[in-house]
Amino acid sequence: MKKFLSVALVLVLTACMFVGCGKKDKKTLTMATNAYFPPYEYYDGDDIVGIDVEIAQAIADKLDMKLKVEDMEFDSIITAVTAGKADIGLAGMTVTEDRLKSINFSDSYAKGVQVVIVKEGSDIQSIDDLAGKKIGVQLATTGDIYATDDFGSECVEQYNKGNDAVMALVSGKVDAVIIDNEPAKSFVAANSGLVILETEYVTEDYAACIAKDNTELLEKVNDALAELKADGTLQKIIDKYIKAE
Ligand code: ARG
Repeated sequence: MKKFLSVALVLVLTACMFVGCGKKDKKTLTMATNAYFPPYEYYDGDDIVGIDVEIAQAIADKLDMKLKVEDMEFDSIITAVTAGKADIGLAGMTVTEDRLKSINFSDSYAKGVQVVIVKEGSDIQSIDDLAGKKIGVQLATTGDIYATDDFGSECVEQYNKGNDAVMALVSGKVDAVIIDNEPAKSFVAANSGLVILETEYVTEDYAACIAKDNTELLEKVNDALAELKADGTLQKIIDKYIKAE
């Protein structure tokens, strides 16, 4: 009898292993990002948090998937997604014609503005004043691309992280930093003696990037985004991190 019981137990356990005991294992949605871009993505202790992470989590919930966030250099995100190392990229990433050649973008979920940070009392007061100055940018971002186009690569210093560009401004290695407005606000708040110019440089749309051949996921993500927009979840996430002025 005892023997019969233990055999039965082994059989039940083995069966459980195969069917997962009724609990179906969720598939993972891997998100590539560059987590030095508050309030969209940044470290809170060991955790990566922010608007993009919460939006991706809300999308994953709708798709009944588990979210995994992978931090990498900004200029590796598109390659990681095209190579299938990540399913989706959310990184306050701007939709551009050039990027659309290699990757698809979801519907836009937020607006961004490229702004100019200078030191208080700087003689740079407009975009035109940037001519001939040293401009710090985050490598491969739209700030980098536009500044290089408009002022020439000899005027542009590229840094791996936005904050490194801001530190270069603080220490006087560059005269200005071109970066997205929300991270700009957070970097200016964290360092005294910096201001953001009133003039907006370029206005842009943020969206999630997904590999060209993964149109199934693109559709699902767009459906999820539409629902999150319609029921106010998206706005709630944004309002949690960006306080109205
Ligand atoms: N919006 C800019 C771009 O797409 C900058 C994004 C930088 N994002 C980041 N997570 N570091 O190029």
